[in-house]
Amino acid sequence: MCIRPAGAHRGYGRGVLKVENLTKVFGQVRAVDDLTFDVRPGVVTGFLGPNGAGKSTTMRMMLGLDRPTAGTATIDGRPYRELDHPLRQVGALLDAAWIHPNRSARSHLRWMAASNGIPARRVAEVIDLVGLSSVAAKRAGGFSLGMKQRLGLAGALLGDPHTLLFDEPVNGLDPEGIVWIRGFMRHLAAEGRTVLVSSHLLTEMSLTADHLVVIGQGRLIADSSVTDFTSRATSSVRVRSPQLPDLHRVLAEAGLAVVPGATPDGRPTLSITDVSTEQVGDIAGRAGIVLHELTSTSASLEEVFMSMTAGAVQYQGGGPPAPGPVHPGQWGQGGRQ
Ligand SMILES: Nc1ncnc2c1ncn2[C@@H]1O[C@H](COP(=O)(O)OP(=O)(O)O)[C@@H](O)[C@H]1O
Ligand SMILES: [Mg+2]
Repeated sequence: MCIRPAGAHRGYGRGVLKVENLTKVFGQVRAVDDLTFDVRPGVVTGFLGPNGAGKSTTMRMMLGLDRPTAGTATIDGRPYRELDHPLRQVGALLDAAWIHPNRSARSHLRWMAASNGIPARRVAEVIDLVGLSSVAAKRAGGFSLGMKQRLGLAGALLGDPHTLLFDEPVNGLDPEGIVWIRGFMRHLAAEGRTVLVSSHLLTEMSLTADHLVVIGQGRLIADSSVTDFTSRATSSVRVRSPQLPDLHRVLAEAGLAVVPGATPDGRPTLSITDVSTEQVGDIAGRAGIVLHELTSTSASLEEVFMSMTAGAVQYQGGGPPAPGPVHPGQWGQGGRQ
């Protein structure tokens, strides 16, 4: 796959996506709450957070589709609406691309190109890039989700933009489609482009991204390399105690991320990430709390993610927020948001 020579987009001083104090309030909901981060060219940046965290809203503000309540989102130092050639600067794959069901893939792209001053020959190039050449003349209405994604991507690439935004691109794709789009995003970044891709799945992000911006309830939780983020997984400590609520409180007061859980036979436990057994034992000892177990375990990536975003899940359905931990079933579920 060759889109353009490696590094062709480097050195332009372009493609920096900057979010500063970005906030969006919908009625009672602070969907995005004072977010500040940069997205740099040349790497894939994963935008990670549970469903409802504010990822899509942030991306919509980056694209001028939602107006910020406060703060700014800029590309090359300017808000989207002020860009001279938006399609040549930013490409986006948001929700399943809108396509006229009776148009062919090729005529849909020709129409997009014509209305944006892009030469028609670029249409054949992008169709080839996304591997749709054999079906370019077919009705797009009959396309599978994977093919629609490819067509949406072809549209995003029409203007050869240096910045690309993908909102949950692997949702609903078959394994082959997931592997393909992952490779494609990595390739776009290797060419020196700025690539921001959102997901609610940490495992997916750890396979795709180099850098992570993690949010929960609209707020920034982490902005670090994937390696740093996942290395937190190596030091998880599990404790049991007849005074578990007291232990939970003193550990939380010590600034530690604590996630309640249970042993396979149902005894309640606490899991603490990014800490040693000595630290946990010392804290318990100082508080006069009896321990029945103090074990060093290796937390899964998903557990690390949960402990970091505990309390940062947007509970939906009208009831009061569920107390305590985030349960694994609340993650990695739900469709496209
Ligand atoms: N147009 C809207 N009107 C009201 N609330 C909205 C709107 N769009 C998003 N929200 C709310 O904002 C929060 C963040 O949503 P969203 O950005 O879609 O999160 P994510 O993409 O991370 O799943 C959610 O609570 C959602 O219900
Ligand atoms: Mg979303």
